[in-house]
Amino acid sequence: MKSLSNRTASFTDSVIRRMTRIANQYDAVNLSQGFPDFAPPKAITDRLAQVAAEGPHQYAITWGAQNFREALARKHQHFSGMEVNPNEEIVVTCGSTEAMMAAMMAIVNPGDKVAIFSPFYENYGADTILSGAEPIYIPLVPPEFKFDGDLLEEAFRQGAKALILCNPSNPCGKVFSLEEMTLIADIVKKYDGYVITDEVYEHIIYAPYRHVYMASLPGMRERTIICNSLS
Ligand SMILES: Cc1ncc(COP(=O)(O)O)c(C=O)c1O
Repeated sequence: MKSLSNRTASFTDSVIRRMTRIANQYDAVNLSQGFPDFAPPKAITDRLAQVAAEGPHQYAITWGAQNFREALARKHQHFSGMEVNPNEEIVVTCGSTEAMMAAMMAIVNPGDKVAIFSPFYENYGADTILSGAEPIYIPLVPPEFKFDGDLLEEAFRQGAKALILCNPSNPCGKVFSLEEMTLIADIVKKYDGYVITDEVYEHIIYAPYRHVYMASLPGMRERTIICNSLS
């Protein structure tokens, strides 16, 4: 058989799923993958059944059903205070995984450099391979997972076009402070870059801290793509 594309040649299986297989094999407690062992709220499944019976069942608009985008805009405004145009600023994708891939494809040409805080959520590795991006890793140094602003600036000096920012971060749980976010924003603006955020854990923050949206910082909205998820 002919080989698959060069693009996929360096792909391995998912580390998270591999850990699940090994945990199952040894009957170990599996801390690697999020498997909720409880049902979704009944109100949601009841409403789902009702809507399934009601219809109409037709193709959704490519970028997501109007009422869903409007609801997402209201939700985002509620938490971030940002007014979002559901017709021009929101695209519904198949999970945040597709959103991140689409954002990378929209911004990055093959050979472009992209800065990524490391350790990073493993999908960003596949995203960079598929979009042909050259990753520049910025270490998050334990125990507080702080980063060196000079290294971040160096990445942009070397031509990074975008930064992937997972906040709160998977896998290390880091929550970027306002001071750190402001430093990142200043560097990105100085070098006219983009930020693609992964904010799927925006609500997993302990009081008194509150999530800071990169897009809400001065001058960042027009250069930030937010990826988020209901999963
Ligand atoms: C940081 C992060 N982003 C994205 C995802 C996947 O999101 P989705 O299921 O919406 O594709 C996960 C799932 O583990 C994640 O940890």
